[in-house]
Amino acid sequence: MTELVQPLRVRGLSCAVPGRTLFANLDLDVEAGSAVAILGPSGSGKSTLLSTLLGLRPIERGDVTVCGTQLRGLPRAKASRLRRDAVGIVFQDGALLPELTAAENVAVAAMMTLGDPSAAASAADAALAKFGVPPDTLAGDLSGGERQRTAVARALANEPRLVLADEPTGSLDHATRDDVAEILFGVPRSTGCGLLIVTHDPSVAARADRAVRLGSDGLVAV
Ligand SMILES: Nc1ncnc2c1ncn2[C@@H]1O[C@H](COP(=O)(O)OP(=O)(O)O)[C@@H](O)[C@H]1O
Ligand SMILES: [Mg+2]
Repeated sequence: MTELVQPLRVRGLSCAVPGRTLFANLDLDVEAGSAVAILGPSGSGKSTLLSTLLGLRPIERGDVTVCGTQLRGLPRAKASRLRRDAVGIVFQDGALLPELTAAENVAVAAMMTLGDPSAAASAADAALAKFGVPPDTLAGDLSGGERQRTAVARALANEPRLVLADEPTGSLDHATRDDVAEILFGVPRSTGCGLLIVTHDPSVAARADRAVRLGSDGLVAV
């Protein structure tokens, strides 16, 4: 019954950096099959929040539960396994390996789930064909939109139940942004995962089932 486990549940989460509280007492739910957008200007703590949800930053106050597993106090190795098994991540610039082809970038991630190199290569080719990316082009030579579509394909390689996206369209022009957003927001509908996307772009946030704004007093509905 794993599909019924809520992808993300956050209660009373606070985060401070030296000299400043970034957010306090934050509650957030991402349900299976739904997309939630977090809006906030640069420097408001969006990336820090995502790092915390990934178990990459210690949790000072509050609780974060990813696919039924509490992050606070979770040993690093278990947090790492949880990310590998259940979470997909898309970054602003794709964070692809430029010397590998698009297909190789996705296959490297697919290997972790599938184990077998030829199965991983087939899965990568199928995913890129679905997203309209030329598989044999070096990642460093892809256009911005192709790079982000590859990054989405890579994030999905482990069939995650939670996908986190950090400004995934931040470096794209408007037409390409809409293209990538269309693909990304289609993911929870087609796979049943939960999607949490942080963005400073209201037109991207408007595609989500729910949009909230990150401020020092937590999350406010917009
Ligand atoms: N480890 C840290 N030490 C000090 N300041 C930090 C640390 N991590 C993040 N910050 C600060 O927190 C603020 C929020 O950063 P960030 O989460 O990257 O914002 P956003 O992604 O919304 O642009 C920034 O001012 C950043 O300099
Ligand atoms: Mg950021």
